Amino acid sequence: MSPLIPVRFEPQGITVMVSPGVDLLEAARRAGIPVDSVCNGQGVCGECCIEIIEGVVSPLTLDEEEVEASCELGQNLRLACRARVLSATRVRVAHPFAS
Ligand code: FES
Repeated sequence: MSPLIPVRFEPQGITVMVSPGVDLLEAARRAGIPVDSVCNGQGVCGECCIEIIEGVVSPLTLDEEEVEASCELGQNLRLACRARVLSATRVRVAHPFAS
């Protein structure tokens, strides 16, 4: 079994431990942090923007390149349902909806 990786959500300061490869939408759900996710993780609504403050996640996906996202997607702003955790990570849900 792979060692678990910490994902810390700011500004809430909540950390959850996940297996490598878990996506950030799933991590947020485990942390009890609401993320706007109209398509329920299908990569099509473009609402689940999350800022990667620190750490390594999987590269930008084709879905992210094609979706009309509600944020400017790039290396630091990702769709939570498409970014998979690869190292200890610190993130912030991009929309005020989450506060
Ligand atoms: S939940 Fe819809 S794109 Fe991520």
